[in-house]
Amino acid sequence: MSQTASLPETAADAPGGLFHDPHQWVDMEAWHRRAGELRRNHGRVLIDEPGYSPYWALLKHEDVFAVSRDNTRWLNTHRVVLGPDANYEEMERSGMPPPSSLVQLDGKKHRDHRLVTNDWFKPAAVKQRQPRIDELADLFVERMREMGGRCDFAQDIAQPYTLRVIMDIYGVPEDDEPLMLDLTQGIFGANDPEYMGDAEDPAARLTQAVFTFIQYFNELTEDRRACPRDDLASVIANGTIDGELLGDVERLWYYIIVATAGHDTTSFALAGGMAELAQDPSQLWAMRDDPDLLLTGTDEIIRWTAPVRHFMRHAAEDVEVNGLEIPKGGRVLLSYPSANRDEDVWPDADVFDVRRRDADKLISFGMGAHFCLGSQFARREIRTMLQRLSTQLEHVELVGDVEHSASHFVSGVKHLPIEYRFR
Ligand code: HEM
Repeated sequence: MSQTASLPETAADAPGGLFHDPHQWVDMEAWHRRAGELRRNHGRVLIDEPGYSPYWALLKHEDVFAVSRDNTRWLNTHRVVLGPDANYEEMERSGMPPPSSLVQLDGKKHRDHRLVTNDWFKPAAVKQRQPRIDELADLFVERMREMGGRCDFAQDIAQPYTLRVIMDIYGVPEDDEPLMLDLTQGIFGANDPEYMGDAEDPAARLTQAVFTFIQYFNELTEDRRACPRDDLASVIANGTIDGELLGDVERLWYYIIVATAGHDTTSFALAGGMAELAQDPSQLWAMRDDPDLLLTGTDEIIRWTAPVRHFMRHAAEDVEVNGLEIPKGGRVLLSYPSANRDEDVWPDADVFDVRRRDADKLISFGMGAHFCLGSQFARREIRTMLQRLSTQLEHVELVGDVEHSASHFVSGVKHLPIEYRFR
C-alpha cells in the first residue's frame, strides 16, 4: 500500500475537496466512486492543500478503527471537525472559549463529562423508553396515512419523528421543536443554501445559531434548577463533576451536542435507508417476513448512510498506524463513509442488503471512548419505524430525485419523494 498522496491532475481533482467541500457531498455516488478509488489504490491519502494544515485521510476500516480506539495517543481537541485553518485561528484570536462539548474533550475531563449523562443512554435505560418510541412511530405512520399516499419522507417523517424522540427525552416542549431543528441545521448544515435562513453567510448562520442556543438553554437551566423533572435537561442543568456544577460554557456545549447530534444523524440515516428500500421494496417485505432482519437491516442502513462524515484526531506522540508513521502533532481524518465500504471487510460492500449478517461491523458510530453516546436510541428509532413500515405498507416507490444536503460534517438525504399504499 502506497503511503504517499495521489497527485491530482487538476485543482478540481484535488482529493481534499472530497472531505472539506460541502458540495461534493451532494452526489454520494460520485463521492463513493472517488473515495473508493483512493481507498483501493492508496488506503490513506496525505492531503496538503492551501488553507488547511496537512492531514492524512484514513479511508480503510482497519485504520479508522485503530485510531478511534486509541484515546491515549490520539486526541480530539477543539479542532475535531475539519475546517480552514483561518477559521480556527480567528476563533482562537477572538478570545471566545473554544467549543468544549464531549467530542472536543479528552482524557479525564472527557470521562467525567460523559458520566454526567451516561446512565440515560445505557441499553436498559433506553429500553425503558421503547413504549414512548412506539407511540411516536405510530403517530408518524398515521401522519403518512393522512398524507394520502405521497410524501417527502425525509422532511415529513424522518426529520420530525427523530426530532420528537430526542426532544421528548430532553424535556423540550413540542412547540419549541421547529426552533431546535432550525438551530441544528444552522450548526450542521450551514453551507446548504436551503438551511441558510436570512443569514449573510455560513459563518454568520453558525454564530446566530449558537447565540440563540445560549439564550434558550440558559432559560431552560434556570427552570430545571428551580423545578427539576425526569428529563435530560434537568440532568444537565444540575450535573456536577467533583461536587461542582458544570460551568456555564461546558453546560451550554453539553446541551448543544446532545440536542444536535441526537436527531439530524438519525434522520439522515432513516431517510437514506428508505431511499434504498423505496427503490427495492423486496428488502422491506423481507423484514416483514423475517423480523430478525429488522436488526440487521437497521445496521445495514447505518453502515450504508454513515451520516457523520468524519472526525479528526491529533497525535499526542509519534504514532504508527498499521505501518503509517505519523509524528507528534500530526493529524488524521477518520472517514466513516469510506471505511464502511471497505471491501476487505465486506467483499460486496457497495451492495445495500438488509440480510447482511455482519453489518454490525459498521464504524458509523465511531469506536473507543467517544463511541456514539446515542447509538442505542438511533438503532431503536430506526428499527421501530421499519417494523411499522414493513408490516403496514403494501407498496412504496420513489417518484422523484433523492436530494442530499451539502455538508462535509453531518449530512444525508434531505428530500425523498415517495408514493405508497397501506395494506
Ligand atoms: C445514526 C445515527 C448516529 C450516528 C451515525 C452517530 C455517529 C456518531 C459518531 C461517529 C460519534 C463520534 C464517535 C467517535 O469519535 O468515536 C458520535 C458521538 C456522539 N453521539 Fe452520535 N450518532 C448518531 C446518533 C446519535 C443520537 C441519537 C444521539 C443522542 C443523543 C447521539 C449523541 C452523541 C454524542 C453525545 C456523542 C459524543 C460522545 C463522546 O464524544 O463521548 N448520537 N456519534
